[in-house]
Amino acid sequence: MKVKVAILGCSGRMGRNLIQAAHEHESIELVGGSVRASSSFAGFDLGELAGIGTIGLKASTTLEALCDADVFIDFTAIETTIENINWCQQYQKALVVGTTGFTDEQLQVIEKSGEKIPLVLAPNTSVGVNLLFKLLEITAKAIGDYTDIEIFEAHHRFKKDAPSGTAVKMGQVIADTLGRDLNKCAVFGREGISDERDRETIGFATVRAGDIVGEHTAFFADLGERIEITHKASSRMTFALGAMRAACWLSNAENGFYDMQDVLGLKG
Ligand SMILES: NC(=O)c1ccc[n+]([C@@H]2O[C@H](COP(=O)([O-])OP(=O)(O)OC[C@H]3O[C@@H](n4cnc5c(N)ncnc54)[C@H](OP(=O)(O)O)[C@@H]3O)[C@@H](O)[C@H]2O)c1
Repeated sequence: MKVKVAILGCSGRMGRNLIQAAHEHESIELVGGSVRASSSFAGFDLGELAGIGTIGLKASTTLEALCDADVFIDFTAIETTIENINWCQQYQKALVVGTTGFTDEQLQVIEKSGEKIPLVLAPNTSVGVNLLFKLLEITAKAIGDYTDIEIFEAHHRFKKDAPSGTAVKMGQVIADTLGRDLNKCAVFGREGISDERDRETIGFATVRAGDIVGEHTAFFADLGERIEITHKASSRMTFALGAMRAACWLSNAENGFYDMQDVLGLKG
């Protein structure tokens, strides 16, 4: 049986890719999608929104109209996602959260919601990026204690949060592996005269330009050599396909708070 999926935020850059990925996925039945109550896209055919022709599903302004779905996929904005999580808890619906930029307090609330519903929180749904997380863990274990660690990310001019959720997660994976507290060792941006670099810090650098879909590099640099581990996304479809994979996996999962490492079986 196909997994019934609804896309929340279906008029967005990701939403349009998610519609196409869900519509074309062999194991998924797309049942609908949501836009804001005030959106000029309310009532639009989802296929028209995604540029794949009419598919006979209209963009809804309420989640109640999407109750047929087994799994909801949310790529909206922080406040909206928090509301959607509450709604999914109330109606016992599984949820994939792709939205990024949550505060620590919000993340705690999201994690707790796993007690009531199956929820995947994935600041980056690309399979390649999640493999990158695993490679960072291996590299940090081997050489992280004696190298300078820097994380670089670049995204399109419209991206609102910085550094990206993926860059923060990369830092978190490295910090956890090395037993460091990222809140204490992260350095965001540098300017002017400073002391010599502290080996314990993890630096972050951000570029916002044009239509860059998403690039992330971790540097592990010593004197005389350095390792760079890079992921480049060339199309948002990579994130959309990863979200479909998470939705299919979540449809068979117990209540719980999960991430893409769970979805891809990369834990342990
Ligand atoms: N996890 C990943 O792999 C991944 C990949 C790419 C992006 N992201 C994240 O996903 C989020 C969305 O990214 P994007 O580039 O698609 O942004 P976007 O183009 O701004 O799309 C967000 C969409 O959500 C809609 N929205 C906001 N509130 C809503 C509500 N109450 N009901 C229905 N729709 C609502 C917005 O509608 P309006 O235009 O009417 O406001 C907009 O269409 C961001 O947090 C981004 O960082 C994650």
